[in-house]
Amino acid sequence: MCGIVGVLGKGPVAGQLVDALKRLEYRGYDSAGIATLENGHLGRLRAEGKLRNLEERLRSAPLLGETGIGHTRWATHGRPTETNAHPHMTDDVSLVHNGIIENFRELKTELMAEGAVFTSDTDTEVIAHLITRELKAGNDPVRAVYHTLARLEGAFALAMIFRGYNDLMIVARQGSPLAIGYGNGEMFAGSDAIALAPFTDAIAYLEDGDWAVLTRTGIAIRDREGKAVERPITRSLASGLLVDKGNYRHFMAKEIHEQPEVVVHTLASCVDLATSRIDMAALPFDFAKIRRLSLSACGTAFYACMVAKYWFERWARLPVDADIASEFRYRESALDPDGAALFVSQSGETADTLATLRYCRSQSQHILSVVNVHESSIARESDAVLPTLAGPEIGVASTKAFTCQLTALACLAIAAGKARGTIGPELEMELVQALTEVPRHMAKILRDESTYETLASSLSKARDVLYLGRGSSYPIAMEGALKLKEISYIHAEGYAAGELKHGPIALIDENMPVIVIAPRDDLYEKTVSNMQEVSARGGQIVLVSDADPATTGCAIATHLAVPPVHRFVAPLVYALPVQLIAYHTAVFMGTDVDQPRNLAKSVTVE
Ligand code: AGP
Repeated sequence: MCGIVGVLGKGPVAGQLVDALKRLEYRGYDSAGIATLENGHLGRLRAEGKLRNLEERLRSAPLLGETGIGHTRWATHGRPTETNAHPHMTDDVSLVHNGIIENFRELKTELMAEGAVFTSDTDTEVIAHLITRELKAGNDPVRAVYHTLARLEGAFALAMIFRGYNDLMIVARQGSPLAIGYGNGEMFAGSDAIALAPFTDAIAYLEDGDWAVLTRTGIAIRDREGKAVERPITRSLASGLLVDKGNYRHFMAKEIHEQPEVVVHTLASCVDLATSRIDMAALPFDFAKIRRLSLSACGTAFYACMVAKYWFERWARLPVDADIASEFRYRESALDPDGAALFVSQSGETADTLATLRYCRSQSQHILSVVNVHESSIARESDAVLPTLAGPEIGVASTKAFTCQLTALACLAIAAGKARGTIGPELEMELVQALTEVPRHMAKILRDESTYETLASSLSKARDVLYLGRGSSYPIAMEGALKLKEISYIHAEGYAAGELKHGPIALIDENMPVIVIAPRDDLYEKTVSNMQEVSARGGQIVLVSDADPATTGCAIATHLAVPPVHRFVAPLVYALPVQLIAYHTAVFMGTDVDQPRNLAKSVTVE
C-alpha cells in the first residue's frame, strides 16, 4: 500500500515527513518523495527506491518549508520511476495520494484538451490539474478541492498543500484510511497512527467520504455532502512495532475496512492499471500446456480455491480440481505428469496445505502459491509465489487476506485465459477494469453498516442459519457460514442453492434465517425459485443482492443492498456482506471476535 503523511509544523518539516514515511515502510513501496511550502512557493524532492535515497538528496538540496507532505509509493499507474513518484504538483498545488482514480483516463483527456501538460503516467496527476483549473477559475483552495472531489471516482486518500497558503492543508478520505494527528500548535495527517506516533498520540480517524481543512490551530471536517461533522479524538497506542487497531473496536473490523485499500495494492502487483492489462511476473510453466490444475487449501482459503475453479474453467477453459488439503494429502490423487498445483494460504504455514504441496512436488507438479506471509514455508517451497499484499492480518477470522487471495487468483485466471487463447485484448481489458472497480464497490458497502447491526440482533437469536448461493456465489455462501460459526458460535451451513430440495429444505421453518447470496446474474431467477420455496415454508430470508427485493415475489425479511457489479468480480464484492453479517452478530453476542474460542490463526499441526 502507498503511505501518505502531511505536517503543518512549527519549524522545517522535512525531517518529520521522512520520519513518518519510515514508519510506513512496512506497507511496501518502490519510491518516495516530499514537498514543502517555502516562502509561499512549492518545492519538491523525489527518489526511486528506498527512503535513504531521498534522504541523500535532501542532504544536498534541503527543503526548509514548515508546511509539507510526503509519500511512499507502491506503483499502480506507471512504473516506479522518479517522475511517477509522489508528490505530484503544478505551480499552485502539491498532493500525495493513496488508492486509485478509476476515471483518470477521461479526466486526463479532458484536461489535456484544455492544454494541461502532464509529466507522469500516474492517475494522481489529474487531481493536481483539476484543482489548478478550479483555482484559476477564481475558487479558493477549499472550493477548488470540493469541486474536484466531486469529479473523482475510486477509492483514495489525499493530502494537499497550496502555493501561498502556509497555514493550510486539505485532506480527503474515500476508501483508503486517513488519520489526523493533533499537536500543540502543529497538525498532522497520515495513512495510519503508526506514522504519526513520533509527533502525537491524539488521533482522529476520518470516516469514508470525509474531507478536512487543517490549520495549525484547528480542523474543519466535512462529509461528502459538505456538511460539517465531528470525529472523536482518541489516544493511540500505535508504535513502530505494535500493529494498531486504529479507531476500530476489533482487528477484524479494521481489516474488513482495509479491504478497498489492500485489494488495490494486490491488484497493482498483478496488472498495469494504466492500461488495464495483466502484468505479472513470468510463471515457471505455460498455461497453454497445462491440461489440469489442482487447487488446494483449508478453511477460508479453500473457498477462494472454489471461486477460482469457476474462473479458470469459465474464462480460461482449464479443467480444475479444488480440494480441501486435509483430504487431498491422503487421497493419492492421480495427477497429470507435468501438471500444475496451486496452494492458497494466508499464513503460508498451514500443516495440511504444506503437506499437500509436498505430495504434489513428489508427483512432479509445478508448484504455485498465493500467500500473505512472503517468507513462509509454503512460499519458500513453491516454484513461484503470487503474494497477497493484505498486510498483517491479526484477526483469527480471515477477511482482507481472502479478498486479496481472490484478487490474485482472478488475475491468474485472466493470465491463463490469455495464454490459452480464450481471453483476447478486449475481454482482458473488460475483466481487469471490473477488478479496478471493486474497491469503490467495497467502500460503498462499508458506508452502510447500520443495516448489519440491525440484522445482528435478530440473527443472534437463531440456533441455525442457512446460507445459499449458486455458481461462484456458492463458495461465498460457504465462506459466510464459516465466518458466522467461527466467531459467533451459531451453527451455520453453506449450500449450493440448487441442493435445497435434496434435503436441507427439511430444516426450513419460521425459526430458520436463510441468507441468500444472489447477484442479479444469469442464475438469479433460479435462485429466486429457491427463495420462494423457503418463503412458502416460513423461512426468514436475508437477501444479499443488487436486485430489487420486489422482483423475488416473496417476503424478504432483510435486504442487504450490494452495488451492481460485473459477474466476474461478484465473489470479491459479495464477500464483504457475509463478513459484516458475521462480525456484527458476534459483536452483538459478545464473543471474542478477534480470538474466537478453540481457534488459532494458523493451524500448523494436523
Ligand atoms: C478463516 O476465517 C479461518 N481462520 C481458517 O479457516 C483459515 O482460513 C484456515 O485455517 C487456513 O489458514 P491459512 O490461510 O493461513 O492457510
